[in-house]
Amino acid sequence: MQQPSDRSVSSRLKAFADSKPGTPSKSAETDYGLISKQLAGLIDGESDRIANLANCSALLWQELSGINWVGFYLLKRNRLILGPFQGKPACTRINMGSGVCGTAATMGKTVIVADVHQFPGHIACDAASKSEIVVPMIKDGQLIGVLDIDSPSVDRFDHLDQQGLENLLQVLIPQL
Ligand code: SME
Repeated sequence: MQQPSDRSVSSRLKAFADSKPGTPSKSAETDYGLISKQLAGLIDGESDRIANLANCSALLWQELSGINWVGFYLLKRNRLILGPFQGKPACTRINMGSGVCGTAATMGKTVIVADVHQFPGHIACDAASKSEIVVPMIKDGQLIGVLDIDSPSVDRFDHLDQQGLENLLQVLIPQL
């Protein structure tokens, strides 16, 4: 496994600190390009999947406003299993086709739910969640998991979030 040198760790942390913006107050102000650059710095030289997923969830938790859960479910034996996340403890196993996560995983497409109470089969992990976005993670043509983000506000996520998060995953996935 490739190990980052001390120098690359310090330069990555410096690049991260230098590029850190203030937390945006509105979704439209989220600078996903900058977040992607920060992520690239954080995962550079690190090949461990869990380490990179953990730092990505922490970065999104820090930089996205108006969210109450962000994290990953990883595909194992045709089920989604809870991976690194930030927020309240969550359900550990989701079947393909179940809930928002299982639906996005089965479709292989991003699902945005403006009001989770209107989504048949929504799985409530945190009662505060009102809207949700789930982005599938596809590596070498195979589904490997999903990125899931919840908000306590209705209609928190839009096509800009979808585009930004899909681009962000293009940075992350080669390092998983
Ligand atoms: N709401 C998700 C379950 C995961 S939690 O939100 C963390 C779903 O319906 O699949």
